[in-house]
Amino acid sequence: MVTHEHGRRRFLQMLASSPALAGGIGLGSLLGASSPAEEELITAADQAVNVLEFEAVARKNLPPWHYAYIATGVTDDSTLKANRDAFGRYQLHTRRLVDVSKVDTSVKLFGEVWETPIMLAPVGSQRAFHPEAELVTARAASAQKHNFIVSTHSSTSIEGVNKVMERPAWFQLYPTDDWNVTRAVVKRAENAGCPVMVLTVDSQNGALRDTLFKVRRSAPVKCTDCHIGGFTYNAVASRRPMFAGLDLSKVTTQLPLNMTWDVLPRLKELTSMKLLIKGIVTKEDAALALQHGVDGIIVSNHGGRSEDSKRASIDCLPDVIAAVNGKVPVLVDGGFRRGTDFFKALAMGASAVCIGRPYLWALAAFGQTGVETMLTLLRKELQIDMRQAGAASVKQITGEFLVR
Ligand SMILES: Cc1cc2nc3c(=O)[nH]c(=O)nc-3n(C[C@H](O)[C@H](O)[C@H](O)COP(=O)(O)O)c2cc1C
Repeated sequence: MVTHEHGRRRFLQMLASSPALAGGIGLGSLLGASSPAEEELITAADQAVNVLEFEAVARKNLPPWHYAYIATGVTDDSTLKANRDAFGRYQLHTRRLVDVSKVDTSVKLFGEVWETPIMLAPVGSQRAFHPEAELVTARAASAQKHNFIVSTHSSTSIEGVNKVMERPAWFQLYPTDDWNVTRAVVKRAENAGCPVMVLTVDSQNGALRDTLFKVRRSAPVKCTDCHIGGFTYNAVASRRPMFAGLDLSKVTTQLPLNMTWDVLPRLKELTSMKLLIKGIVTKEDAALALQHGVDGIIVSNHGGRSEDSKRASIDCLPDVIAAVNGKVPVLVDGGFRRGTDFFKALAMGASAVCIGRPYLWALAAFGQTGVETMLTLLRKELQIDMRQAGAASVKQITGEFLVR
């Protein structure tokens, strides 16, 4: 039997001796080209100076094929890279001698107050990163008072997650191509107490995740040994708790290719949950989303893992904010890693910001303590940046603080 550690070592040796496999940001980082030496890795969550330090530990702890699932973008990973690089184009116009003795990071969304605008984005299959999967993330988010959006593809049921959270999580929907299934899943999330549903519209089956596919191809274990039935959408759905007990015989895709804007009023008819749309990156689509009745928008390119637009989320945000003109909250995700990143999005007018990979790294590195510490670090960075810039509350973080 090939253990993960044994498989990982063999795999890295093989990859290192195979120049044909090199190339692409993901593979380079899988090889540890730009990563700290083993002795420089943090060994406990409280040693982390910033959230980026969790990544190398996650890479060490996970089998490469699971780490690659986190790391991958699409094609040459350039949209993934764009999400980070773009922050460098915006600078802070900081002010002095402002009373920042008390800094208030709270935000109000859909009538609920959150102590922080930093939220956990929906990420499926978290059992690949920790045996207790979303339960650990949920406990950490709840303990640190952050919102958590649970994926349709979670490894844990929405009921299980909500049981360990002080406030019920938000639910992210992949509608599938069978409306009976959609209806049942939506009802289940509503019955579990979720106040908000997020429809993801930016991720078709078959994204060109070259980095992931190269690693899978070269893996010394067969992915299908664990992923029984393989990676067709029907097989994937049949393994997800959210679809348990449903007839999936007609389900072939997570996002039907013929789905158009009328899905929004149809979903609103099904549920009293607030409806957000995730994956909007243009002013035109923001306007259409509003016309079709959404309660909020998440600007996102799926962390650079869906289309190869090469356009960063933070660059799309101002267009969407302008089109929405304050009518509904606009959230954003994609590449947010430092306090100043959050500050910049808030200055552009975002109501909240979601993170994906940082909490997966922390989860794989140190479990619940890792995720809690990672969240504490991000909150602390945002507070320090607010003080340093001269903004005592999120409301005070306006466009005046940004220079491009
Ligand atoms: C491993 C992984 C799985 C994801 N699964 C989902 C998902 O099931 N549903 C969804 O709407 N977005 C999913 N996303 C996208 C995230 O919600 C989010 O948009 C993205 O991670 C934000 O970028 P960041 O990772 O750079 O913070 C996933 C992202 C990753 C990294």
